[in-house]
Amino acid sequence: MDRFAKIGPNGLGFHTTAEEVTRSIDLTDKTIVVTGANSGLGLETVRVLSLRGAKVIGMARTIEKANSIKPIANALFMPLECDLSEPSSIMRCTQTLIKSGTQIDSIICNAGIMALPQLQQKYGVELQFLTNHIGHFMLVNQLMALLTDEARITIVSSSAHKVFAYPDGIQFDNFSGFNKYNPQKAYGHSKLANLLFSNELANRLNGSHQTANAVHPGVIRTNLLRHYNPILKYGAVLVEKLLFKNVHQGAATQIYASTHPDIKGVSGKYFSNCNPKSTSRHGEDQMMGKRLWEFSEKIAKTISQGTDWEDQ
Ligand SMILES: NC(=O)c1ccc[n+]([C@@H]2O[C@H](COP(=O)([O-])OP(=O)(O)OC[C@H]3O[C@@H](n4cnc5c(N)ncnc54)[C@H](OP(=O)(O)O)[C@@H]3O)[C@@H](O)[C@H]2O)c1
Repeated sequence: MDRFAKIGPNGLGFHTTAEEVTRSIDLTDKTIVVTGANSGLGLETVRVLSLRGAKVIGMARTIEKANSIKPIANALFMPLECDLSEPSSIMRCTQTLIKSGTQIDSIICNAGIMALPQLQQKYGVELQFLTNHIGHFMLVNQLMALLTDEARITIVSSSAHKVFAYPDGIQFDNFSGFNKYNPQKAYGHSKLANLLFSNELANRLNGSHQTANAVHPGVIRTNLLRHYNPILKYGAVLVEKLLFKNVHQGAATQIYASTHPDIKGVSGKYFSNCNPKSTSRHGEDQMMGKRLWEFSEKIAKTISQGTDWEDQ
């Protein structure tokens, strides 16, 4: 990446918008799932995918929120309720798609919450980890049978996986968050989980033409930052102008990973500014990814039975 021009080796970069990424891409006949589709980057992702002809399945916490997306999508748009912190909601949503025999070309795991000021839990699990990681882990695993041969899974992670990391990575004995809760670190923890989920999924898809990649979208002023305003807190408006993207730029990397022909078959990578990027040491830890997968299966099974998770 050229630090001054902010353009990467493929000619795309910091300022590239989602519309620019897809300028010559025809998504007619493609069906793409987007979570957290009613706000911020998800909404822009739906708008641009729809513009290029895709059938978008837009998931939101409630059906009212999912329906609210319709005006910016094309006529093929399908709204679905999917609360990622609620196993029964995820199951209802995936059953709807399974029953309708929908074939899915891409899933963009975009929904997220950030830096909850106080520890919040559901089913005994810290809420950011539950929503951002476990919810998407369950959704993707339940939709695997519907994926087309060259389907792409894109997990929206964040540079927070590095910046707000716990020194020892995933907290296998503290998914409850009870031990020394820190809002930013809990978010970074969930975003490391997103990245490791993507890597391990890529490993498991090895040998097929299906792929999984993670992305950092950039820093964008969306509803996500409602609890966290680090730049303006210090009055540095100029710094914000230099460091922040707008939503059109912010949605570019996840759309790039999910649709661009140049990276057909590429899997297990982490992208930022529409270019590959290195991750933290923990983000490359294959054993940590495998262990997280095993724990995620146990957590998903436990909470799907309506039982609270208890740290081991
Ligand atoms: N903005 C940034 O600077 C930035 C930086 C790095 C990474 N990211 C990542 O980018 C993704 C999109 O974030 P954004 O900036 O577009 O934030 P946003 O505008 O707050 O959108 C987040 C979306 O996730 C949904 N969501 C929250 N909890 C949910 C749940 N339990 N079930 C289903 N959906 C839920 C929200 O629904 P409601 O509208 O109902 O709340 C909303 O649609 C997130 O994964 C975030 O971690 C963002």
